[in-house]
Amino acid sequence: MPFPPTASRLSGVLIAGLAAWAFAGPVAAQESATDEEEAEAVIPFALPQSGPFTPAEIDIDNDQAIADWFRSAHANAAAEAFRHWDDDGEIRAACATCHSGEGFRDFHGLDGTEAGVVDGTIDVGGVVDCGTCHNSGLADITEITFPSGLVHPVQGVEASCLTCHQGRTAGIDVTEATAGLPVDEPNAELRFINPHYATAAATWLGGYGAAGYHYDGRDYSGRFFHARPVASCNSCHEPHTLEVEFEPCLTCHQADAPEDIRIARQSYDGSGDTSVGIRSDIEANADRLMDMLVAYTQEVAGAPVIFDGTRYPYFFSDANGDGAIDMVDGAPVVYGDWTPRSLRTAFNWKLVTADPGNYAHNPQYSLELLYDSIADLSGPLGIDMDALGLLR
Ligand code: HEC
Ligand code: HEC
Ligand code: HEC
Ligand code: HEC
Ligand code: HEC
Repeated sequence: MPFPPTASRLSGVLIAGLAAWAFAGPVAAQESATDEEEAEAVIPFALPQSGPFTPAEIDIDNDQAIADWFRSAHANAAAEAFRHWDDDGEIRAACATCHSGEGFRDFHGLDGTEAGVVDGTIDVGGVVDCGTCHNSGLADITEITFPSGLVHPVQGVEASCLTCHQGRTAGIDVTEATAGLPVDEPNAELRFINPHYATAAATWLGGYGAAGYHYDGRDYSGRFFHARPVASCNSCHEPHTLEVEFEPCLTCHQADAPEDIRIARQSYDGSGDTSVGIRSDIEANADRLMDMLVAYTQEVAGAPVIFDGTRYPYFFSDANGDGAIDMVDGAPVVYGDWTPRSLRTAFNWKLVTADPGNYAHNPQYSLELLYDSIADLSGPLGIDMDALGLLR
């Protein structure tokens, strides 16, 4: 079958019904619709006029794809990623591209409006629906622009994954915010720069995608080409369940689970342990980086930070150094003492950890960003990099 299948090739009635059912779409509100048409449009699964009447005997087109998708994160209408704007009544243009199928279509001009901008009001209540990926218009999208400014060529449904899983900021934003500022001096003008969430495509493109903060004079591994059968998002992720099927990995790898896969014969985290997956090295270095970042804010910047992954914007003040987040009027005090050095290392830490699949998407690039950020903090902290035994 052509790739990807277009909406018109899927069951029309079912898709219309599905839209009404899942998104309370205003199908029935069309003025010209007759009563009969209306009734047909709002009932998701019309009962047949004659047999068979046993559900198991009734053939439903696309039922596997629908069932798989319905249980996936893309269809989870209750998730924060889709409910965040409920109180506003509409999704802001800056957010709508990735937080609703309708916003995605608007951004890419698939709804007939101008491409490259969300110019309509986007209703709350949408999810990543069928028409986000099954849309004949996707074939006309030939490139996707990343937050770093990189314009990357795409083909077919890849355009969808790369639009929404690219993150929202890049190292260049950190460079611009900190240009010309003394590197270890707290600056109240600086704010944490969040790479955003599920930034798989950014990690995947590596140094070529330039999502990370890149240090002068350092080279960064580019896109993770991996191996031919696993070279695209959907070659690993089933596009409806979104799950990674492990079986095909075993053609080339020997491991009990994806996170246990390792090719590298050397240890990157100083542990010397090469019996564990490469994910373990990335995690250990990320933990070390976070510890050093906290120590740096205490010992060098003189303004201790506390990281709390459960609330935005994640970094809070602990001015008196008592180990608890400072509160004013019952609200946590957002950290406002960033130095250029703490800001860029925090950015790289967050970028790597914002992608739970970093070890499969681009292990080398993840390790390089962590190593360089650790080295950056080691100087002012007086830590001997050689003694840590890390590899880049
Ligand atoms: C480039 C695409 C993109 C844009 C633009 C975008 N987001 Fe997101 N956002 C995502 C993705 C992908 C996730 C899913 C992360 C996950 O939960 O796996 C997400 C998750 C979230 C979450 C849930 C975080 C959590 O902890 O579950 C919030 C809240 C959010 N975004 C807010 C915003 C806001 C506010 C804007 C606009 C100012 C915005 N996003 C713009 C892609 C985007
Ligand atoms: C995130 C993107 C995405 C979403 C959302 C999505 N699909 Fe798909 N779908 C794909 C891709 C990619 C393929 C091609 C798979 C292949 O060829 O291996 C596909 C294939 C299919 C197929 C062909 C048979 C199969 O399962 O491979 C059907 C039918 C289908 N989708 C129906 C749907 C329906 C119905 C929905 C909504 C309930 C939906 N899809 C939502 C990406 C998506
Ligand atoms: C319109 C934006 C959009 C598109 C297009 C999109 N995604 Fe997503 N994706 C999201 C959001 C938002 C979430 C988080 C949803 C949630 O929190 O329930 C997500 C979640 C995921 C997850 C996490 C699943 C989990 O169990 O947490 C995976 C994997 C994923 N997407 C892969 C893909 C792939 C592969 C494609 C392309 C075929 C794709 N996405 C296309 C927005 C998108
Ligand atoms: C080599 C196989 C492979 C490729 C290629 C791949 N992924 Fe992944 N991905 C994984 C593995 C393994 C995980 C971690 C295990 C998991 O979450 O299922 C993961 C995790 C994710 C997650 C986080 C899921 C979660 O639990 O929150 C997202 C989102 C994601 N991938 C999207 C993508 C996108 C978008 C692409 C294409 C740019 C892509 N992946 C390419 C294997 C792959
Ligand atoms: C056709 C062979 C092949 C398949 C299939 C394959 N891989 Fe790989 N994988 C490789 C090769 C080759 C490398 C080394 C690539 C490199 O370093 O450039 C690698 C490297 C990796 C690494 C990094 C290991 C390290 O120590 O740096 C991870 C993680 C990984 N693969 C995960 C997966 C997952 C998950 C799957 C299944 C979804 C998978 N691979 C399927 C060939 C394959």
